[in-house]
Amino acid sequence: MNLFEEYRPERPSDAAPVLADLRIRPAVPADAPALGALEASREGGDPAARARDVEHSIHAAATDHRTLILVAEHERHLLALAKARHFLPPAASPPSVAPPGWYLSGVIVSPEWRRRGIGRALTRARLDRIAEHASVVYYFANARNRVSIELHRPFGFKEVTRDFTFPGVTFEGGVGMLFRADQCRRRAGSH
Ligand SMILES: CC(C)(COP(=O)(O)OP(=O)(O)OC[C@H]1O[C@@H](n2cnc3c(N)ncnc32)[C@H](O)[C@@H]1OP(=O)(O)O)[C@@H](O)C(=O)NCCC(=O)NCCS
Repeated sequence: MNLFEEYRPERPSDAAPVLADLRIRPAVPADAPALGALEASREGGDPAARARDVEHSIHAAATDHRTLILVAEHERHLLALAKARHFLPPAASPPSVAPPGWYLSGVIVSPEWRRRGIGRALTRARLDRIAEHASVVYYFANARNRVSIELHRPFGFKEVTRDFTFPGVTFEGGVGMLFRADQCRRRAGSH
């Protein structure tokens, strides 16, 4: 398992252009097996167990409107998933706990489809949807995850602090960085 993708500042010369017919849409329960496999290939664990967790999150997203799970699809194949969620610090959190708000919480592009703009498109799509609810968006990353930091940089994310905690999250072999972006708030359906 490679937690930190190889950082390559130059775009590979053989990288294909963005797929013209890439479709980005909210995940549906039928996507769960493919998404579980994608998550397991990146983060380890049992694909079937991950698929069950993803399916649960997809159902929750459909009702609580505090979770967003998008997929990128090309010719009926799922190439990527991206998540966001609204976070409220639990009662009795330490003072260092991350602020409440919307967080981009993970994007995974299938390795053979990387560096074609899919991660960027999914980030844009999540920010557009969040802008219907909030003008501030956060994400955090291990300082060693340069690829993640480069992916988010053009969207206006600025580092807030490295002195924060987030329930259930540890930053293996590095330090966590919390980023924030301010964007124009839009009413649902106005774009
Ligand atoms: C991070 C990840 C989602 C990027 O997806 P992607 O579709 O390859 O990204 P894009 O093609 O949209 O790239 C957008 C920008 O991100 C940056 N980037 C992406 N991959 C990079 C790499 N290997 N090295 C350096 N910068 C990179 C570049 O600035 C790139 O723009 P450019 O290609 O015009 O130079 C993908 O590498 C991945 O799934 N990694 C494993 C999971 C992960 O680390 N997720 C991020 C934390 S949740």
